[in-house]
Order: sequence, then structure tokens, then C-alpha cells
Amino acid sequence: MPSASPCALVIFGASGDLAKRKLIPAIYEMAREKLLPDSFVLVGYARSPLTDQQYRQECREAVQKFARTQPIDPEIWNRIEKNIGYVQGDYGSNDGHDRLCAYLDKADREKGTAGDRLYYLSTPPNTFEPIIRNLGEHHKKQPRDGKGWTRIIIEKPFGRDLASARSLNALLHEYFAEEQVFRIDHYLGKETVQNLMVMRFANSIFEPLWSYKYIDHVQITVSETLGVGTRGGYYAQSGALRDMVQNHMFQLMALVAMEPPAALDAVSIRDEKVKVFKSIRPMRADHADQFAIRGQYGPGQAGDVKTGGYLKEKDVPPDSKTETFAALRLFIDNWRWSGMPFYLRTGKFLTEKLSEIVVRFRSPPLALFQKQCDAPVYPNDLIIRVQPDEGMSWRLNAKVPGGQMTVKSVALDFFYKTAFNIEPPEAYERLIYDAMLGDQTLFIRGDEAEAAWSVIDPIEQGWIASQRTPEPYAPGSWGPKRAMDLIEMDGRRWFQGNNGDAEPIVACSL
Ligand SMILES: NC(=O)c1ccc[n+]([C@@H]2O[C@H](COP(=O)([O-])OP(=O)(O)OC[C@H]3O[C@@H](n4cnc5c(N)ncnc54)[C@H](OP(=O)(O)O)[C@@H]3O)[C@@H](O)[C@H]2O)c1
Repeated sequence: MPSASPCALVIFGASGDLAKRKLIPAIYEMAREKLLPDSFVLVGYARSPLTDQQYRQECREAVQKFARTQPIDPEIWNRIEKNIGYVQGDYGSNDGHDRLCAYLDKADREKGTAGDRLYYLSTPPNTFEPIIRNLGEHHKKQPRDGKGWTRIIIEKPFGRDLASARSLNALLHEYFAEEQVFRIDHYLGKETVQNLMVMRFANSIFEPLWSYKYIDHVQITVSETLGVGTRGGYYAQSGALRDMVQNHMFQLMALVAMEPPAALDAVSIRDEKVKVFKSIRPMRADHADQFAIRGQYGPGQAGDVKTGGYLKEKDVPPDSKTETFAALRLFIDNWRWSGMPFYLRTGKFLTEKLSEIVVRFRSPPLALFQKQCDAPVYPNDLIIRVQPDEGMSWRLNAKVPGGQMTVKSVALDFFYKTAFNIEPPEAYERLIYDAMLGDQTLFIRGDEAEAAWSVIDPIEQGWIASQRTPEPYAPGSWGPKRAMDLIEMDGRRWFQGNNGDAEPIVACSL
């Protein structure tokens, strides 16, 4: 891949967790892969009082600790390090932005960054507005007459409901064109997620089967084995539905459900995803508690980790009704998916850490072998593992060798690591590189974010209206009992692991 053209990257919130764990290590990996331009400057911006030297030291430690490839190559790092600077300031401070502009102008003159600027908002959402206004006003004051580009990457969450997402979009568009805005959902930078489109549209075997006619249902699970940790304050305002479903899980669902795009460009792909969100059947407020299940982890232990329960976590109000688990049954009302359910579940402190999509196919029209076998014959599954063990599995039925006719479910596995013998890059490497190239394909468009919030809002409103509290669940479990009921009432079960054996379920053929 070609290296990006000369530019400066400014990270707002440079002192934060994301910057240290993901962004700075991604810059190092990009340099190692020769994707960074020769003329490249990295500027950290935050309120913490740091000198250039102290900030460089923090970045070095972050790379030594978190870079994907270890040990780090000191020669590569030294080349990056001498072009790292730090500007201290409040996010709404005019003065701070003046100093930042002066720093960037100097970099253009002395380091050849050509006026091309990528701003990364890696700060809590309450700082987005002052940063965007300040950037916009400085941009207006100093129009660079077509010299150099300006792009803005915005971290999630993009709004907390439809109204706030709309006003954030309006604010951005007051100063910047949509082509300059890169709303991040790091799931889209994952290899396995990008592979979803390759799998569907570069293979002819899927398309004829890919509809309600041959698929019984789709399950998407994104589970974590830890609690809210130090993010209790943020999480209490958010919850599983806003934090995981509106973005990561909806993106996975859209890539499974979308129609083939007219081309592989940002407009065509994002048009198709928007259509999926617009086709999701709105949840009736009085159905929210029945088809959108909430849970909250109680006290207990998962693995080695003990917890006093969500309500005892730091910065969580003791009467918080915020859900740490959500499970949904959704329908996409279009020709392809009519009447076929998508089940989504996500939560903290669950049994296993994984992100996976399970496409369960319908049973054959005639249970021919069932008559001869004692055990039931299971339907086929396509399991797409986003993490861990990135790859795919097909579960098919095969005859067990021997005189008897015994049918057993077997797995055909594809693992990224062994198939290509390479470690897939981190999502942030790909996404920062794409933003430098101006490619928006793997970023969320403004109307896409709004369409996704339009699905979430009625559920949140239904939950508020019901006044019910989230159902407690034990840490280390698969969530509350009502989440099991949600799918079992349809004669189906949550997929429990891919150990090659089909779980004892009764196939549900409509
Ligand atoms: N961490 C992750 O794994 C992760 C994953 C996905 C998305 N995100 C998103 O990425 C963004 C950054 O995440 P993060 O975990 O790095 O956040 P963070 O560590 O809480 O905050 C980043 C920096 O912002 C400043 N800051 C924190 N609270 C602030 C406040 N109330 N007002 C003004 N400034 C404040 C702090 O820098 P100074 O005090 O020095 O200014 C802090 O170092 C957030 O929007 C988050 O939702 C994070």
C-alpha cells in the first residue's frame, strides 16, 4: 500500500486511555509498515500540563507497552519521536487553539506537512462541541485557499439519541463538509468485519441462500467478561444499548443484511447500510420490555474477578437503572428479510469475551435422517468470529463412520492467523490510514448515525415508560433469564460456543 501524503495529526485528549493504548501504537505500526509519510508531525493536545519532552516519553512508554509488534524497533520510533509535539490547553480555549494553529503553521514551514491536517477527537463527548467550534472558527479565520485539507475523526459515541446526533451533525456541517468528517466505529476497521463483505459479495454460493427463504434467523453476540471498571461515570449515562448496540452491533447487522452495493465506494456502501437501518421495524413503546431485554450485573465473581455488583461500582449512582446487558429481537422489513428475526445480545461480566455472528439456516424440508437416528439432526450454522480466533466456521452434518446411520454436526473452520500466517492489523491502524487518504468507506456517515439512533430511541423511551428495573444477572453467566426467554419463546436457543458439537436444540423449521 502507498504511504499517505505529508500531513499533521492532532490528537485531542492526548493524555487519555485511548490515545495511549490504541492511537499512538497504531502510529508506530503504520510507520513500521511504511504507511506514514516522510513528512509527518504528531501533535498531542490536552489540558494536562506536559512538555514536548514529557509527552514524547509518555508516547514511547505507550508504544513499548501496547504496540502489536514487540519489541519495538528503536530506529523507527526515534524517527517518529522527533516529530512529536504537545500543546496544552482547554478544549474550548481560543488561546489554546491559537497556539495549536501556530504550531501547525510552523510544522508546515519546517517539516513540510503541506497544510494537511487530521484532527482526532479522542475526548469525552461533552468536549466535542467546544473543539469543533474552535476548529471551525480558526478554520474560518485562516482560510487556506485550497492549500491543504482538513479532516476530523470523531470518536464514539456520536450523540446519545437522535436529537443529540442531529445537533452534532448540524454543528459539524456549520463548519465542515460531510467529506471532511470521519465518524469512527472501530469495528469497521477489523479485518473480520471487512471480510463480511468479501465473503458475501466475492463468493457466489452465499447470495442464493442469503434471505429469509433459507435462513432461519441471525444471532449477533458481543460479550465482555469484565464490568464497567473505571468508566462507571460515563457508563451510567450510556448503557449497553447506546454503548454497543447502536454502533458496533448495528454495523455488524447492516453488513450481514445489506444489499450488494453498486460499487465498493463510500457512497454506495453507506447508502446500502442506511437502507437497512431505515427498514428495521420500529419497536412499539409497549413492546420494549418484551422484545428488548435489560439486565444489570449483580454481586459475584467471574473467573478471578470479584464484583460487588454494578450498583457498587465507582461513580455509579446506587439507584442507577442503566443496563449492563441488552438483548433484542429485531425485524428488517424488506423483501430479503421479511418476517425473519435478528437476535442481538451484549453485556458486561458475561461467560466469555467474544464478538460473533451466527447465521442459522433452516432445516431441510424433510427430516429424512431423523427417522433413522436417535438424536435430532441439527440445522447448519455459519459462524463468523469477529474476535477472538478471527475467522469462520461452517457447521454441517456428516455421517459418523460405522455400520449405523448416525449423523453428527461437524465444523469446517477457517482461522485468519493460520490461513494467512499473519497477524491482522489493529482496527485503528487501518482507520487512521484511510482518514489520511480521505477514504470514508469504513466510517459512519451522518445520516447513517441518525438512522441508527431512530431505531434506538423508541426502545429507550419504552424502557423509561415501563418504569421497570433491569433484571439482575450473575457475573460469569450469559445474562438474565428473560434474555433466554426472548429467543426460546420462538423455539430457538442462543448459540453457546463453537466446540464442534451442536448444542441440543430442536430445529425450528417454519
Ligand atoms: N478507551 C477506549 O477503549 C475507547 C473505546 C472506544 C471509544 N472510546 C471513546 O474515545 C474517547 C476517548 O476515550 P478515553 O478512554 O481516552 O477517554 P478518557 O481517558 O476519559 O479521556 C481522554 C482525555 O480527555 C480529557 N478529559 C477527560 N475527562 C474530561 C472532561 N470531563 N472534560 C474535559 N476533558 C476531559 C483528559 O485529558 P486532559 O485532562 O489532559 O485534558 C483525558 O486524558 C471517548 O469519546 C470514548 O468514548 C474510547
